[in-house]
Amino acid sequence: MVPRVERSCVMERFFVVMEDYMEQISKVQEEAIAKIAEAESLKELQELRIAYLGKKGSIQALMAEMKSLPKEEKPAFGQMVNVAKQAVAAAMDEKQEELRKKELAQQLMDEKIDITLAGRNMDRGTQHPLLMIQQELEDLFIGMGYKIAEGPEVESDYYNFELANLPKDHPARDMQDTFYIDPNTLLRTHTTAIQMRELEKADGKLPIKLICPGKVYRRDDDDATHSHQFMQCEGLVVGEHITLADLKGTLEFMADAMFGSGREVRFRPSYFPFTEPSVEVDVSCPFCNGKGCSVCKGSGWIEILGAGMVHPHVLEMNGFDPEKCSGFAFGVGMERVAMLKYGIDDIRNFYTNDMRFLKNFDRFD
Ligand code: PHE
Repeated sequence: MVPRVERSCVMERFFVVMEDYMEQISKVQEEAIAKIAEAESLKELQELRIAYLGKKGSIQALMAEMKSLPKEEKPAFGQMVNVAKQAVAAAMDEKQEELRKKELAQQLMDEKIDITLAGRNMDRGTQHPLLMIQQELEDLFIGMGYKIAEGPEVESDYYNFELANLPKDHPARDMQDTFYIDPNTLLRTHTTAIQMRELEKADGKLPIKLICPGKVYRRDDDDATHSHQFMQCEGLVVGEHITLADLKGTLEFMADAMFGSGREVRFRPSYFPFTEPSVEVDVSCPFCNGKGCSVCKGSGWIEILGAGMVHPHVLEMNGFDPEKCSGFAFGVGMERVAMLKYGIDDIRNFYTNDMRFLKNFDRFD
């Protein structure tokens, strides 16, 4: 039993030692809290967290000291270090929250978009009027069960002329002089060349129902109504019992759709080597409804295309029996349709790429 006086002496020593420890721990704690208060970024704070609370940090170092203390001092010391540790951790968390808010606010400021600024106008392209006509025709004929056929613009004499019943010495070739790459290769003069390819490809199988839109070329002096390059949309139907009446009905339907309802269609006899009989087709003038105006030159009619019943010889050359099937074909110039539809008076406008002209066809405005 320790005498009373001595006991109090032991207690005193204990408290003195504890006070020392307390001072030592408080110093670390205060230093940490002061540095935390000064931290200006989350990154800096994270460095402090490692420096004080990390495995090799100052507070952990205090804990390590505990090992060397006398047994009776250990609990109190440990408790003090824990209190300090919690205080530092709490200060860290509080500061972290504060910095996070600050950094977010800064980020929002930095990334702010001034929506009051006037936008820059984007230069938007427009659809070319010829493309608009082509798409309109395609939609129309697809709706009637036609397919769209394409072919090369650099074509052989064979498909462009021979198979279309225009042999080498045929006088009708004069009307379709073109640009020759060599005596047997040329820029196609009509999309009839595509029709010939399709007839050959069909290999005698019926029915055939197609349109072939595309660019064609002819040797011509360019002026307001002539162009050495232009666009056609030709159509071909071959099957059993196809008659001129089918052709007329189809063209009436097309004229109504392209130029407004109530159009009348008129056939005038004509000549094409690949059709027999052949016709030129007029529609009643959409501008005056047939009464006569400056566009139709007082006649009430406007010529829009050439057509006819497929020539038996063309069917034969392509492997079809003209006794068993028949067909009609037509070819419309797309510039002509566009000129009538949009009131364009010079064909050269389609090819000179003048923005003032093209901007008129902004389909969004
Ligand atoms: N291919 C003719 C042309 O270019 C148009 C046409 C096509 C005529 C089909 C009759 C039948 O002039």
